Amino acid sequence: MHEIDSFIPEQKEHLEQFRIKYLGKKGIIQDLFADFKTVVPEIRKEMGVKLNDLKQKVQQKIDEHKSKFDESEDTNADTDLTLPAEFNELGSRHPLSIVRNEIISIFSRIGYIVNEGPEIEDDWHNFTALNFPPEHPARDMQDTFFIEKNKEQGDIALRTHTSSVQVRVMERSKPPIRAIFPGRVFRNEAISARAHCIFHQVEGLYIDKNVSFADLKQTLLYFAKEMFGESTQIRLRPSYFPFTEPSAEMDISCSICGGKGCNICKYTGWVEILGCGMVDPNVLTNCGIDATEYTGFAFGMGIERITMLRYGIKDLRLYFENDLRFLKQFEGAY
Ligand code: PHE
Repeated sequence: MHEIDSFIPEQKEHLEQFRIKYLGKKGIIQDLFADFKTVVPEIRKEMGVKLNDLKQKVQQKIDEHKSKFDESEDTNADTDLTLPAEFNELGSRHPLSIVRNEIISIFSRIGYIVNEGPEIEDDWHNFTALNFPPEHPARDMQDTFFIEKNKEQGDIALRTHTSSVQVRVMERSKPPIRAIFPGRVFRNEAISARAHCIFHQVEGLYIDKNVSFADLKQTLLYFAKEMFGESTQIRLRPSYFPFTEPSAEMDISCSICGGKGCNICKYTGWVEILGCGMVDPNVLTNCGIDATEYTGFAFGMGIERITMLRYGIKDLRLYFENDLRFLKQFEGAY
């Protein structure tokens, strides 16, 4: 079959050349018709018939050959239908996408919608509206990838957290707001097993009348149990973020050893998974929400960390290396 396949185009080409040579506009037969005008009247009729006859015969021959080629192209007589099909390699979802989808699914079940925002942010949305004082260390060159330094209009930078989307959503919507914001964030950090300059976060925000810290706790407990199993426990430790007051960090009972102690939880039985708190009234005001009427909570987590705990992945760099031996382990998962 392969031989015929490669043979036919060559023969077809010959046939086409033959057609051009005899039947083409400047072909031999056309020349004969031109000469025909000079033929003496006595034999003109007879010559005319013969010329037309010749032209028809040549056309017939060409058609015959053409149909032969078409036939042999159509009949895949030599195709062995019992041969296995060509292998079509399917990709699989990246573990970070699997976990991000799962986080979205868990929160959408309790009424959270998904919002996204730009990765290149201005100073207002990444810092100022979020109550970062001008001299706050997070604005420092060491943490932030600045794109443009501009004293008058504010710096432009790669967002350092998805809290910037919190600001954008509050600015353009009226409470109640119940949304999560998944996305990529960027920090100027040395790449190691535990840190990377690009990583992924999911931030959550709930704003309404009478939202309390108890609502935050219950929401996070629900999330931890859905994500890591019914027996998962949480604990909140006081912390500090400029945009929440009070602020806390949340640990879960270690999902690897079940709280008994292992090297993932550094033998404490607990691992930190997110930051959270009540939205600072200054932030609400900055975003045009009446802080005397509304309260809210926010939380933010790193998807890399949740994925590490979920799958027992010990080195963050694996996520970005695109090593098929790593990625193939997640085949079939969503
Ligand atoms: N934006 C914080 C961070 O990147 C996380 C956070 C979000 C904390 C919302 C509190 C509330 O570390």
